[in-house]
Amino acid sequence: MSVTIKDVAQKAGVSFATVSRVLRGERYVSAETQQAVHRAVKELGYHPNSLARNFKTKRSNIIGFVMPDISNPFFATIARGIEERARRNGYDLIIYDTHSDPDRELKGLQMLAERRVDGVILSPISDQLLKLEIPDVRILPVVLVDNLVEGAEVDSVIIDNVQATRRLVEHLLSLGHRKIAMITGPLNQTTGKDRLAGYLSALHDHGIPEVKGWIREGDFLMQSGYELAGELLDKADKPTAILAANNFMALGAMRAIRERGLHIPRDMALVAFDDMSEFTTLLDPPLTAMVQPAGRLGDAACDLLLRRLHAKRSMKPRQVIMEAELLIRGSCGANAYHD
Ligand code: RIB
Repeated sequence: MSVTIKDVAQKAGVSFATVSRVLRGERYVSAETQQAVHRAVKELGYHPNSLARNFKTKRSNIIGFVMPDISNPFFATIARGIEERARRNGYDLIIYDTHSDPDRELKGLQMLAERRVDGVILSPISDQLLKLEIPDVRILPVVLVDNLVEGAEVDSVIIDNVQATRRLVEHLLSLGHRKIAMITGPLNQTTGKDRLAGYLSALHDHGIPEVKGWIREGDFLMQSGYELAGELLDKADKPTAILAANNFMALGAMRAIRERGLHIPRDMALVAFDDMSEFTTLLDPPLTAMVQPAGRLGDAACDLLLRRLHAKRSMKPRQVIMEAELLIRGSCGANAYHD
């Protein structure tokens, strides 16, 4: 059986992408790694498959977007941004919804790679990207948006989740709240981890002790917001404000607060990440939210991917960091607010 790039990568202890970069003589690979790859090629007697090599020159003019929840306006708006940008540049888009399942995330990436799309934009919920087996020799450019994957040397588009959450907490502090609870996102995702870090750093910098019982880890879905807010509300020592790390969990928290006959914001202030697009202002009271530029995140991710696809030489990974906007409405208790 002929030796493949997979054998070379395993023997050299590097990724497929690195082997291909070395074989194509690209820069940004250490001398040590180049030696390891060339040694493995020699020892295994590897000869790049010319048919496979041809693949990399064939363009499908299709890109993929792998994301965790198409029903969430945040991701749907990113997808719209990507699609419009791609279409204007002559590309079609395949969207793959992983339902926040890591196995589906890898399956979607594998399917797109095998369908020979030209590149993929990924909003990851795991590190499965690192296990992607790219067809022989081809390199599949990947751009991350929203969450990051530790160890992935790829382009990315994010917001500064730590600073954005600090601003949400400091807004509640400015309204006089000192007993602020947080329903976090999944802490194995960078958005979940960084938002919790922003919450804790804001409390610390304002001399407010962390109350373990007021921090609950959610999963970015409505039911977890509902259940966790219920736990917080049923505590003897209740907070006066809840920060939900995304829109869906905020809706669940609203339901839990209402079911207990409590008033938002008088009995419990509520703030969150993300809008529910136009619906947010229809909520009663309208939700105070740290709103991410989801459409522009999609635009920027697509621009980075197209830039890489049409680059004449290899480029170091690039990160774009965008600003979120604090829209103050009625759910936090501020008087003057955005309508
Ligand atoms: O609503 C989905 C959430 O998960 C958003 O806040 C987005 O940042 C992602 O992390």
